[in-house]
Amino acid sequence: MEDNQNVKIDAIRRQLSACGQSHLLSFWDQLGPAERAGLVEQIRELDLDRIPTWVETLVLHAPKTPVGHKDFQPASSYGIAPATDAERRKYEDAVKLGKELIAAGKVAAFVVAGGQGTRLGFDGPKGNYPISPVRNKTLFQIFAETIKAVSRRYRTICPWYIMTSPMNHEATVRIFESNDFYGLDRGNVLIFQQGTLPNFGFDGKILMADKASIARSPDGHGGSIRALARSGALADMKKRGVQYLSYWQVDNPLVKLFDPLFIGLHAIDGAQMSSKAVIKNNPKEKVGNFCLVDGKMTVIEYSDLDDSLAERRNPDGSLVFRLGSIAIHIISTDFIEKLNTKGFSLPLHRAVKKIPHIDSRGNPVEPAEPNGIKLESFIFDALPMAERSIILDIDRAEQFAPTKNATGVDSAESTRVMMVERAAKWLESAGVKVPRKPDGSPDCLLEIAPSFALEPEDLRAKTDRIPPIQPGDRLYLGGT
Ligand code: UTP
Repeated sequence: MEDNQNVKIDAIRRQLSACGQSHLLSFWDQLGPAERAGLVEQIRELDLDRIPTWVETLVLHAPKTPVGHKDFQPASSYGIAPATDAERRKYEDAVKLGKELIAAGKVAAFVVAGGQGTRLGFDGPKGNYPISPVRNKTLFQIFAETIKAVSRRYRTICPWYIMTSPMNHEATVRIFESNDFYGLDRGNVLIFQQGTLPNFGFDGKILMADKASIARSPDGHGGSIRALARSGALADMKKRGVQYLSYWQVDNPLVKLFDPLFIGLHAIDGAQMSSKAVIKNNPKEKVGNFCLVDGKMTVIEYSDLDDSLAERRNPDGSLVFRLGSIAIHIISTDFIEKLNTKGFSLPLHRAVKKIPHIDSRGNPVEPAEPNGIKLESFIFDALPMAERSIILDIDRAEQFAPTKNATGVDSAESTRVMMVERAAKWLESAGVKVPRKPDGSPDCLLEIAPSFALEPEDLRAKTDRIPPIQPGDRLYLGGT
């Protein structure tokens, strides 16, 4: 037995030595049997063959932007409203088809919630962050209530797939259990984990979190494509007949889940992965840019878009590269299956971060400055692999409020302001008077529960249940 283990560990030592990572076993002699087994398991999960390439191309040197020599064109999109009569008919057909697909149970919700949410600085999974302006509902609760309201409206089951990471999986499951799955049937909520990637020091050596474990982080939202297949979520979808995933990020409470127009356009055009976009506010707005690179739909990060391209304008003054990515997609399950059938991988991106670890003597190090590299893959890097992909523009005030930071730009604060503003607009469109301050912002706090209205049209039939709103009021509209 002992001999067998020695043979095994000798083989691992040789593999590690071949990729310059022998130090992972530096403390082997000090570890007990359980710790040793755990460490061996973690090493097995590393993609050892690829590590030298990652070190060379991503850790030791920052890669050059990949777009330099390629044909580079702006992507086109469907506008917020149809531009022609023919397009109007197409939008109507799409809405009809989208509704049919939802009602037939062919569409599932898919949120990626495995991130570490470091910028928000919240203790626990970001989905548990209380965000709604009046009731302080958490992000998870808002999504759950939306899914419940959609299921009820279409008299169907809308399964919900939630991706976590090993760093927040148990906490996420506990939150759902302690909230009784927010009233959803727990058989229709599947919580599964994404993979991890090792963290590197600037010298290319993998960092150790402690003597028996490798410093790791979630492998990015792009890890979802593989995790869907590996976790059994994809098989579950096939069993249920789900053909489309409505994908979003856990930090956007304004997202319009199960948007019939978006689903319908994707299906009519035979797309495999589609996206919603906002029209950029300025040339270098910090969102990815939808481009056609060598004819393929691609998202280029704002930092990688050459200034001369970013600044380029059409004769009417609008930006040539005007479509910003907001991480809302429809993904066909067939596409996910196809990607997973053959040695598929998404490109990795590097992020320079502060990474707690132990030093070569085993002492803990809490870095005050960035000290290493995390690697991650991005979901939008699957777009060029799609044979067909469409983009639908949306009004950001209606559908996009990313809660990245605690205060300032893209923060919990700005998200709440947007939630109140959207509720005010919806109410006004239904003929309800909303008090406003001299600067035009609502002079009240408003919250509309998904069960009360999923879209502005729902309010029109309910105006008799909306009390007059006075300056300074806090109004919550709930119930069905
Ligand atoms: P972000 O890029 O905003 O990262 O993720 P984050 O980890 O949430 O926050 P910071 O950067 O540490 O402050 C966008 C979305 O992708 C998910 C997040 O949970 C969020 O919904 N995500 C990100 C994953 O599911 N897994 C990952 O590995 C990374």
